[in-house]
Amino acid sequence: MDRTVGFFVLALLLTFYPSSSETYDTLSEGSSLSVEKSNDVLISANGIFSAGFYQVGNNSYNTFCFAIWFTKSWGATTVWMANRDQPVNGRGSKLSLLRNGNLLLTDAGKIMVWMTNTVSTSYVRLQLLNTGNLVLYAWEKTVIWQSFDSPTDTLLPHQILTKDTSLISSRSQSNYSSGFYKLFFDIDNVIRLLFNGPVVSSLYWPDPSRVTWEAARSTYNNSRIAVFDSLGYYRASDDLEFRSADFGAGPQRRLTLDFDGNLRMYSLEETRGTWSVSWQAISQPCQIHGICGPNSLCSYTPAYGRGCSCMPGFKIVNSTDWSYGCAPETDIACNQTEVGFFPLPHVQLYGYDYGHYPNYTYESCENLCLQLCKCKAFLLNFGDGVYNCYPVALLLNGFSSPNYPETLYLKLPKASLFPRYDPLEEFTINCSGNTRYIQLDTTLKFLKFLLWFAYGLGVLETAIVLLVWLFLFRVHHDPVSTMQGYILAANGFKRFSYAELKKATRGFTQEIGRGGGGMVYKGVLLDRRVAAIKCLKEANQGEAEFLAEVSTIGRLNHMNLIETWGYCIEGKHRLLVYEYMEHGSLAQKLSSNTLDWEKRFQIALGTARGLAYLHEECLEWVLHCDVKPQNILLDSNYQPKVADFGMSKLRNRGGLGNSSFSRVRGTRGYMAPEWVFNLPITSKVDVYGYGIVVLEMVTGKSPSAIPDTDAQGETEQPGLIKWVRDRMNRIGVRGSWIEDILDPVMQGECNMRQMEILIGVALECVKGDRDSRPTMSQIVEKLMCPEDRPEQDGFLSMS
Ligand SMILES: *[C@@H]1O[C@H](CO)[C@@H](O)[C@H](O)[C@H]1NC(C)=O
Ligand SMILES: *[C@@H]1O[C@H](CO)[C@@H](O)[C@H](O)[C@H]1NC(C)=O
Ligand SMILES: *[C@@H]1O[C@H](CO)[C@@H](O)[C@H](O)[C@H]1NC(C)=O
Ligand SMILES: *[C@@H]1O[C@H](CO)[C@@H](O)[C@H](O)[C@H]1NC(C)=O
Ligand SMILES: *[C@@H]1O[C@H](CO)[C@@H](O)[C@H](O)[C@H]1NC(C)=O
Ligand SMILES: *[C@@H]1O[C@H](CO)[C@@H](O)[C@H](O)[C@H]1NC(C)=O
Ligand SMILES: *[C@@H]1O[C@H](CO)[C@@H](O)[C@H](O)[C@H]1NC(C)=O
Repeated sequence: MDRTVGFFVLALLLTFYPSSSETYDTLSEGSSLSVEKSNDVLISANGIFSAGFYQVGNNSYNTFCFAIWFTKSWGATTVWMANRDQPVNGRGSKLSLLRNGNLLLTDAGKIMVWMTNTVSTSYVRLQLLNTGNLVLYAWEKTVIWQSFDSPTDTLLPHQILTKDTSLISSRSQSNYSSGFYKLFFDIDNVIRLLFNGPVVSSLYWPDPSRVTWEAARSTYNNSRIAVFDSLGYYRASDDLEFRSADFGAGPQRRLTLDFDGNLRMYSLEETRGTWSVSWQAISQPCQIHGICGPNSLCSYTPAYGRGCSCMPGFKIVNSTDWSYGCAPETDIACNQTEVGFFPLPHVQLYGYDYGHYPNYTYESCENLCLQLCKCKAFLLNFGDGVYNCYPVALLLNGFSSPNYPETLYLKLPKASLFPRYDPLEEFTINCSGNTRYIQLDTTLKFLKFLLWFAYGLGVLETAIVLLVWLFLFRVHHDPVSTMQGYILAANGFKRFSYAELKKATRGFTQEIGRGGGGMVYKGVLLDRRVAAIKCLKEANQGEAEFLAEVSTIGRLNHMNLIETWGYCIEGKHRLLVYEYMEHGSLAQKLSSNTLDWEKRFQIALGTARGLAYLHEECLEWVLHCDVKPQNILLDSNYQPKVADFGMSKLRNRGGLGNSSFSRVRGTRGYMAPEWVFNLPITSKVDVYGYGIVVLEMVTGKSPSAIPDTDAQGETEQPGLIKWVRDRMNRIGVRGSWIEDILDPVMQGECNMRQMEILIGVALECVKGDRDSRPTMSQIVEKLMCPEDRPEQDGFLSMS
């Protein structure tokens, strides 16, 4: 019946004129959609969703799936597929709505691949709704089937996950068939993420090392439903609830179980058609199980994605598939005199402990492991005032993260116990320039060096395999495992010519800021986007090096980070192109008294989120090192966006010299004591800077406005911190200090509870001892703590 053909010519036009009010969203009974006709696509009335045959592969046959996708997203994001595990031929395949009510997908005209198995004696029609739901109606309005009831890897707003449905990730970025990760309601009513691999399977979210109630999940409600709304508010019957970072009306949203095993909420930026992550279940990608097999370690950096390496003394089993893991190079004998222990700092293993032995010394734990033949390693941690010993029976789900303080002691034959190194040596990043990458423990340091080296040469695989082998390590970095969010962000990232930027800024005339890194100018790009263009001074590093750094920065994609649109490298010129922020910086807004309490709190929270993303997601590859109000920009909704990150990586390479050293270290007043005492620089310097910024936002006083104390007997502390602490200690009555320290322009208008939390957090951030400062993600958690939750004991420590 070819009334449909006419429809679809128009439907194609609709793709270009989506605002038209006419709809071509319905397939009537007795007609079909054909794979060969590119116009055979249903488009929802609002133009947002399309349903039709979607190409999933490149070989000559069986490469189409019947799918629903976002019409306007770059590279078409699919939200549902009928036959993800059985693609059909590019010729002769059809989706047909039979008069008996059945909806059928046939391959090459004959073989039935998928059907709804529905029956109706009345007139039926298939309609793609504005919500993205594909619905089969009978008797006018009765739903007899809908795509929302059988999700693949994505939920849309108002699509309910039930006890009978689950999300299954796709196999890889390019292979849409069912993968190994699953989101489902477990038998105890809790929503969990499961790695269901070919050999082992294990749950990894919520964190299995915490009991359910610690993860704030409830097992009591057996209605088992989860749903989120178009504002970005998610709620499930197991009490998990969250709001996306950009909560509110506006963008299209989706919740997807990505092929890398992480569950993320995305928002669509319609003008560019790109997606950005507004919530994710797991911030440390290596906590996802099943990435690397037994006896290996997972590690993550944004530049190289997630990667696996064998533990020292082990070699890779199948070099094409990491799920097989690594095997011992030589048999590890049971004979106690022939083995020793190799320390691997910052390594965590999940599961497979023999047990928990409290109050053990290093020696007694080592002895215990020596005596247990099956003990492969042991962990020693400090808790409850004593050292706790955990002998480990299987080396599974290992990952290394600089945030993880403990050391794993690996049992190895004495012959392979080299090189010895001091496990106490710190993991640090040196923001001051010349050291290109993180200073790691000897072994890991070498590993990173290799990665860097190989990356520079563009022969990642070869160089690593050859060189790492010498050092007992095998490393493999899978390029497709880079997070989807980053790849999308990188899509819009481009190289500009100097002439183009000169023209855009009208010859670098309109200066909008200047900082350590260089001058910033306002400009209008050819595509009419308004940009902030930064000319880096002292950028005397080589082109390849600059490109490597810049592409890392370009991949960072978060609501609360300034978006980098591109760069320019020509001769001595090094420029970066950013989105322009109409509302300027937090510093400007603080001095012009335009921020009420709610805005201030949102800015504190958003800034913490942006920094947490830099620190955790990037595993400290990007320390900011210059957190201050001038570097926190505000968008039209007063959402903060952290700017100027990655500068410490971009500047001052090659050229030495102490002259630049002081500038690189940040800004007076916001600098942590580590700089002064020349201690290792960690992410805690940003935490300190953040704490000062929060104090400044709350009190309205810049740290330079109050002179530092002269260290007379008491420990020296910066003026602003002392000023706040003094006021809090002076007045005994709880809460009455608030008006005393609150910015006078606020005239006492603030939310007391939030104020207490904020000040409590800020004072923890500015502690002299960096180890007692919280991490950025802990700060986010504290600030998100719902207002109606009862008082948390010990939260406000005011000394
Ligand atoms: C098919 O191959 C072409 C060229 O090699 C590429 O541009 C395109 O993205 C591929 N399509 C898919 C679906 O893989
Ligand atoms: C996708 O993965 C499945 C399962 O491993 C495999 O059978 C299929 O051939 C893959 N498809 C493509 C297009 O690579
Ligand atoms: C169970 O969860 C649902 C959905 O969140 C909620 O509507 C219902 O009130 C809950 N039931 C109980 C007994 O808490
Ligand atoms: C390695 O794994 C791949 C994919 O699973 C398999 O095809 C291949 O035969 C394996 N190789 C070895 C040496 O086991
Ligand atoms: C353990 O090894 C030592 C030295 O290699 C050897 O003398 C001893 O007999 C071995 N013990 C056992 C039980 O094999
Ligand atoms: C730990 O062990 C030591 C020595 O056995 C003992 O003196 C000490 O009281 C123990 N500490 C605790 C907290 O049990
Ligand atoms: C950082 O690097 C500079 C130059 O290489 C060096 O002088 C300084 O001591 C390093 N700082 C730390 C904390 O390691």
